[in-house]
Amino acid sequence: MCGIVGYVGGGQALPVLLDGMRKLEYRGYDSAGIAILLNGKMGTVRRAGRIQNLEEELEGRSFEGNLGIGHTRWATHGAPTDENAHPHQDCTERLALVHNGIIENHDVLRSRLEAEGHAFKSATDTEVAAHLIESILERRNCSLKDAVLEAVSILKGAFALVCIHAAEPDVIVAARSQAPIIVGAGDGVGLVGSDIPALLQHTRDVIPLRDRQVARVRPGSVEVFGFDGKQVVPEQVHIDWDLEAAEKGGYEDFMLKEIHEQPYAVRDTMRGRFDEKGRVVLDEVKWDTDTIRAINKIVVVACGTSFNAGMAAKHAIEHWTRIPVELDLASEFRYRDPVLDEHGLVIGITQSGETADTLAAIRFAGEMGAKVVAVTNVVGSSITRDADAVLFTHAGPEIGVAATKTFLAQLVALNILALYLAQERDSMPEDKRLETIEAMARLPELIEKVLDVEGAVAKAAKKYADASDFLFIGRGVGTAVAMEGALKLKEISYIHAEGYAAGELKHGAIALLQEGVPVVAVMTGQPLYEKMLANVEEVRARGASTILVAPHGDERARELADDIFEVPQVKPLLTPVLDTIPLQLLAYFVAKERGLSPDKPRNLAKSVTVE
Ligand code: AGP
Repeated sequence: MCGIVGYVGGGQALPVLLDGMRKLEYRGYDSAGIAILLNGKMGTVRRAGRIQNLEEELEGRSFEGNLGIGHTRWATHGAPTDENAHPHQDCTERLALVHNGIIENHDVLRSRLEAEGHAFKSATDTEVAAHLIESILERRNCSLKDAVLEAVSILKGAFALVCIHAAEPDVIVAARSQAPIIVGAGDGVGLVGSDIPALLQHTRDVIPLRDRQVARVRPGSVEVFGFDGKQVVPEQVHIDWDLEAAEKGGYEDFMLKEIHEQPYAVRDTMRGRFDEKGRVVLDEVKWDTDTIRAINKIVVVACGTSFNAGMAAKHAIEHWTRIPVELDLASEFRYRDPVLDEHGLVIGITQSGETADTLAAIRFAGEMGAKVVAVTNVVGSSITRDADAVLFTHAGPEIGVAATKTFLAQLVALNILALYLAQERDSMPEDKRLETIEAMARLPELIEKVLDVEGAVAKAAKKYADASDFLFIGRGVGTAVAMEGALKLKEISYIHAEGYAAGELKHGAIALLQEGVPVVAVMTGQPLYEKMLANVEEVRARGASTILVAPHGDERARELADDIFEVPQVKPLLTPVLDTIPLQLLAYFVAKERGLSPDKPRNLAKSVTVE
């Protein structure tokens, strides 16, 4: 997620901007830039890579000015290059603007503005906002605040925008539509940031803008307006967190923060991918319908959590598209002489986009003539260069080594891809597709509800933290959830855990069951629900403890459970998106009970770039 900093006041803007940007580095970024008003002229410097590259570029140059904005960019539209780095400017170069989020209607607006004569210099959605505000200012000759108010009524999507203009040297205007933005004013200074750490050194009294609000920040003062233009009384909060707590948004660990960011990760990944008629729009996949119809086999390759996402997706892809799906561990794929040709589609899933095994697997698939689509969270990562098409998850950077929000985003992205293939192949009735899209649109709200189980999970974690083995069972897509629950637990709590297809229990693993062994059962929706109940009975009969992830209000599940985490009901193929959350929380709280740091598990790296 991008970082935003803004400063206006009596002092020099540049050191405040650079310091604020450094404080936001933990969020992850791939380029950085600043704009400062210097003697009535807007000076901008933007560089791909670390903030240090930007500082080297600034060395020896005079950037003295009291108004400025800075940005660390996490690319979503356009590669991480100097040209695409923020701030962006209008044609007059008197306006500078930074942005966090996604402007969904950027294509339409870009064409309209280009037709009006605006010249674009980058491939970003952000630059559209700069030219849009310019065109409003030209037409209305109004204040920057009023131009921004009109612009936000035209822009669609989730965004935090911050802009400055040479005509108003003591003003920063910030707008929020879903993406967070915080403003504040201290003694003779005005500040803006995408996150609290950027402001903390200058003020502890901040105003987190509410959704659909615009702020005009001046030295020592903040005015807040609704998108309807009416002024509102700002809601100020006092922050007493230290810097480290502020980076984690008040959560104890990044992993917990990222678990709580899942509603946004899922919403952002779906954003702009369904049109008003309920059709799936995948501009990223540019194959014609005939090519898509000729696909006769899909192979999913991935590692770890990404593999588990693929395991869940196999069910949806096969059900909706009727194309057979093979699932391969990326590290195994090239060594098993797979059968693949130009009618094969290989889906490489990797949140980091850098996993050596997955990269090698998709390159191998490409050499065999198959089409390759990559599902990744990182724009500009290695896999984006080697794949024929890339489907980005928009989970924002993930800092905890244990993948959480990127997993949910992968599940959703893979469902979108499956729906798209089904739509292009006419393999799914339209009403069923529409119904599924509607159900997916409700997921972010349902994820919020699932997060309410946190207290119950924390309590259960106390009970089971000393266990030496855990078993996770499920059926159908629930098996993938069980595998992911077991992986999360072992990687951060160091407890031996196995994920198992529940039907396989009686073929071996049942021998492990005895008094007190915790068995987590994912009570996947019908038609497998009854079978799962029978498996849980088998487990109870051996004296093991049962921890159930079950639909809300299900009495039979309650009767069989020693502990139960209830989740709202959704279509069976969408259940992994909800059912995984209590298991992520279980792993987290068990690790905490054992005094371990969930963010940095031993022996593990966030991206595994060696084979
Ligand atoms: C997940 O919690 C693990 N850290 C690990 O299994 C990870 O999913 C795996 O290394 C694959 O990473 P990728 O998604 O970046 O390719």
